[in-house]
Amino acid sequence: MSEDSVVEDIESEVEEAPEDEIIVLAQKWKRKRGSLIMALHELQGRLGYVPRESAMKLGREMGVPLANIYEVLTFYNYFKLESPGKYIISVCTGTACHIKGSPKLLHGIEDELGIKEGESTPDGEYHLQGVRCLGCCGLAPLASVNGKVYGKQDVTNAHGLLEQVGHDQPMHVAAEAADAE
Ligand code: FES
Repeated sequence: MSEDSVVEDIESEVEEAPEDEIIVLAQKWKRKRGSLIMALHELQGRLGYVPRESAMKLGREMGVPLANIYEVLTFYNYFKLESPGKYIISVCTGTACHIKGSPKLLHGIEDELGIKEGESTPDGEYHLQGVRCLGCCGLAPLASVNGKVYGKQDVTNAHGLLEQVGHDQPMHVAAEAADAE
């Protein structure tokens, strides 16, 4: 990892923990028009899919019945209900990250993994997606892996990022949800 690379947990940069992250998300979107879709969109952007536990929590916090949430989730093909990979790599393509070269990082990861954005590796290890602003622009350019933020990336060194991910082995979101049950 380059010297100026910074690894930060998303909970220390934005919110306290995934549970609190959902509360913040719910508060952000609760009273806005079309808010449920936007909240689910943002949730999937952060986690790579919409775990059932997270959908339930979001529903409770927004005062929306779970049935209504699943109506939305199943109506739009965009939403994923199952984890698309063990490591879900989300490269931020928001303005600040884009200016600092995140498209180059995204393409570098595509080359390293031999997949395109939106795809998973055949062994189910990695899923790659581009996402909107993750809310920690001060760390641009960045990617998050299973909710853990890898900030100030060297956009020419996708290989280094993947090595770091393999070394850290960020917790699998699905396993975390299962443990919570
Ligand atoms: S633009 Fe990437 S975190 Fe905001």
